Amino acid sequence: VKPAMNVAVTGAAGQIGYAALMRIANGELLGKDQPINLKLIEVPQGLKPLKGVMMEIQDGAFPLLNSVVGTADLSEGFGDADVCLLIGARPRGPGMERKDLMSANASIFKDQGKAINKSAKKTAKVLVVGNPANTNALVLSANAPNLDPKHIHAMTRLDQNRALGQMALKLGIGVSDIEKLCIWGNHSSTQYPDITHATAMIDGKKVRLSDVIDSKWYSETFLPTVQKRGAAIITARGASSAASAGNSAIDHVRDLFLGSGSAWQSIAVASDGSYGIPKGLVYSIPCLCPGDGKFTMVKDLKVDEYSKKMMSATAKELVEERDMVRHLL
Ligand code: NAI
Repeated sequence: VKPAMNVAVTGAAGQIGYAALMRIANGELLGKDQPINLKLIEVPQGLKPLKGVMMEIQDGAFPLLNSVVGTADLSEGFGDADVCLLIGARPRGPGMERKDLMSANASIFKDQGKAINKSAKKTAKVLVVGNPANTNALVLSANAPNLDPKHIHAMTRLDQNRALGQMALKLGIGVSDIEKLCIWGNHSSTQYPDITHATAMIDGKKVRLSDVIDSKWYSETFLPTVQKRGAAIITARGASSAASAGNSAIDHVRDLFLGSGSAWQSIAVASDGSYGIPKGLVYSIPCLCPGDGKFTMVKDLKVDEYSKKMMSATAKELVEERDMVRHLL
């Protein structure tokens, strides 16, 4: 039996936490042969609902689940963590400006960065889901110098999954028939879902998506549908996307640890300056995941004029976000 891995989850009593925890406990995050210890972190007022969630987890009788703790203490929660899923964040309140939201969250991620720096394993892999995810990850990284910035990610996998879903529906094929579709930039409405490198298997033949997709449908229907999917779900469900967000967080971490072969996966991570993206900006880029927590960025892609414009627009937004939290970096 493998030694247990420690998985810390913040915002564990929230709706994404609720949707994801049972699946994590069931082995979908790190593999069906990997025992885990769950460390569930909440703010003090979240501890009561968290207790209920923990009772339900207990009632799941998960063979791979070694232990579960619930805490509002960051050093206890992140202690010896191998994986940190940072879901908890401050939602936008009435009359709250984007700037206020940005700085309220940035200070949460500053504290969590310091705690992870002190208590988690140096090799810990961190995934930020709480919004504004990219900039929260940037703040966290600046406050966790013991961790390699390469291991601090923000989640754009949900955007990739949304894009795949829409494209598969349009073409009447399965999502796994589509390859190399990726998201660039910010997890926000400026994100760039890029199909210029993507292929699809249609009637047993591999074709370039750009050869079969009408450019008007791409720019007038597909792009806005993917970019504004979050808002559309709020309108339909009366609550923000939770199960799909939890699902994508599981996809992200599972592929990182268990590998996903030659598939491209969008990961928002500190830029190394490739593609003219300002160095250090937490920016989504296509990556390959060979497993064991490692990944490599896909380099030297040909970028057409349209993509260049879209990629720099989302970078510009991230630079503006960075400027709003500069005092915490
Ligand atoms: P929720 O409001 O249902 O749950 C959030 C939970 O976090 C609450 O239980 C709250 O008590 C807790 N929390 C707040 N601050 C905390 C802190 N400092 N430490 C620990 N726990 C804390 O929200 P939901 O729906 O679960 O969403 C969580 C976040 O995920 C939001 O910021 C949301 O915008 C973001 N999100 C990101 C997506 C992405 O693709 N990156 C997709 C969907 C949501």
